[in-house]
Amino acid sequence: MQIKKVGVIGAGQMGNGIAHVLSLGGYHVVLNDISNTTLEKASHNIRNNLERQVNSNKISAEESNAALKLINYSVSLEEFNDVDLIIEAATENEPIKQKILTSLLPHIQPHTILTSNTSSISITRLASCTDRPEKFMGFHFMNPVPVMQLVELIKGIATDQDTYESCLQVVEKLGKTAASAEDFPAFIVNRILMPMINEAVYALYEGVGSVEAIDTSMKLGANHPMGPLELADFIGLDTCLAIMNVLHEGLGDTKYRPCPLMTKYVEAGWFGRKTKRGFYDYNGAKPVPSR
Ligand code: CAA
Repeated sequence: MQIKKVGVIGAGQMGNGIAHVLSLGGYHVVLNDISNTTLEKASHNIRNNLERQVNSNKISAEESNAALKLINYSVSLEEFNDVDLIIEAATENEPIKQKILTSLLPHIQPHTILTSNTSSISITRLASCTDRPEKFMGFHFMNPVPVMQLVELIKGIATDQDTYESCLQVVEKLGKTAASAEDFPAFIVNRILMPMINEAVYALYEGVGSVEAIDTSMKLGANHPMGPLELADFIGLDTCLAIMNVLHEGLGDTKYRPCPLMTKYVEAGWFGRKTKRGFYDYNGAKPVPSR
């Protein structure tokens, strides 16, 4: 199936990045959120991020302007009546995702492919609350979406090959690379990345090293672009905790238990960059360890 128009649900850090790359790829995009304020923030971020790419000669000013014209912002699901593909990128919470998927169904056409940008939740389970499990799959971008090359594509147990091929074509048109993952908790990237982040939090919790020592070790000792605690703040500690819980509950192995310190930070509302405090405090000119 030829995909021309795409709906993106959730205008947070993932949703606005997804709308950004889809519009640069020439797709018409409807970016939907329940909050007008979030949509305004998303529009501002997309404009700024496109400008960064123009300034570093990654794209031309014409390409940026053309992309901006392809994005519509909306709080209404009615705008989805002519989209070919939907990418749900709301918060990493299964009941919320199920509610969104169910409420979409009366507004979309029979041919519309439904996907979720979930970083960990069962695709088969999400598919089962829709009327089209064969046209449902996982479409998982990495953060920051305009920079990261990978998209994980995850088939549920009922996903048909045409749906997979249509999504693969979109990934290729965006100039990104797809990796196919089976529908097991947290798929490939987060199955490997999150236990590493969780282990870094345990190293902090047990006093093996300070925030700075842990991050410096992994940046300079393993050539990671960001240290694991800096990366956890970047992803969002609420998201990291949600993914660890999916791994722990889904695989039933104690090696996936979330570090109590991560839970405590989330309970305090210290979610990382988005709340200006996580393992680092972002209120000053330069991030400094929170404690
Ligand atoms: N949009 C457009 N361009 C962006 C951008 C954005 N949102 N963010 C960064 N860039 C560009 C910058 O403009 C810059 O471009 P130039 O080199 O052309 O100047 C380039 O990316 C590098 O950015 P910076 O100079 O600001 O900073 P940096 O060199 O420290 O790189 C980073 C920033 C790309 C985020 C890098 O630190 C990095 O790769 N970090 C690791 C990110 C990572 O691991 N992501 C995966 C998280 S896991 C995930 O997403 C899955 C999940 O489900 C949780």
